[in-house]
Amino acid sequence: MDSEDTIDIENLDDNKFYGDAEKYWKNISPTVDGMLGGFSHISSTDIAGSTKFLHLFVKPPGKTNKVRALDCGAGIGRITKRLLLPNFSHVDMVELNQDFLDEARHYLADNASRVERYICSGLQNFTPDERRYDVIWCQWVLGHLTDEDLIGFFRRCQHGLSEQGVIIVKENTTAVGTTDFDTTDSSIIRSKNAMEEIFKKAGLRILKEEKQKRFPKEIYDVYMFGLQ
Ligand SMILES: C[S@@+](CC[C@H](N)C(=O)[O-])C[C@H]1O[C@@H](n2cnc3c(N)ncnc32)[C@H](O)[C@@H]1O
Repeated sequence: MDSEDTIDIENLDDNKFYGDAEKYWKNISPTVDGMLGGFSHISSTDIAGSTKFLHLFVKPPGKTNKVRALDCGAGIGRITKRLLLPNFSHVDMVELNQDFLDEARHYLADNASRVERYICSGLQNFTPDERRYDVIWCQWVLGHLTDEDLIGFFRRCQHGLSEQGVIIVKENTTAVGTTDFDTTDSSIIRSKNAMEEIFKKAGLRILKEEKQKRFPKEIYDVYMFGLQ
């Protein structure tokens, strides 16, 4: 990832910001390595950390049902396959790039039929059906939304949650008080505090937060947040 600090993140040109990201992902191979920018070797550690975090919320001992989850910025379904389908009866996937959704049907193999909806859309334009989801999982995608669009997306997601449903966010974070911009894929890397400020503006409460353990030193700190 190339980051640079000369971009004025407060005044992004939305068309360029979203257009550049779309172009980037259009040229990425539909593989786990493509999804993780060459870091496919961290996928198992990631899924193990996510599974532990998810189990704090779902029944039992949590209160969240295990009927249906939504995978946001789902790519080819790396998370759907290894985290969500093993824990929920059904999953919907929402993803910007149709090529990734097409590949997902092969990648998920026999379990593809438990994905009820393959939705091709940017999250900035997506509205979940009311009360449809027990868990809305957002990982390594929210940097592709402007602050304003992210707040709007979170507000709409709250209506998409079932009773006791939770939104789970897992994202890269920068040091307090700093923001990076990745010019390679056109995404913002926010600090944990900036994320927390956005949750607050969207009317979300943090139920739990945790840093992902055992990731390589050279990558950003990754935090998980459970929100309602
Ligand atoms: C870093 S990959 C992560 C994929 C998946 N979340 C995972 O962890 O395996 C980012 C994904 O977000 C998708 N994406 C980028 N911008 C998006 C947007 N505005 N709305 C929805 N998906 C987007 C990309 O096409 C890509 O599949």
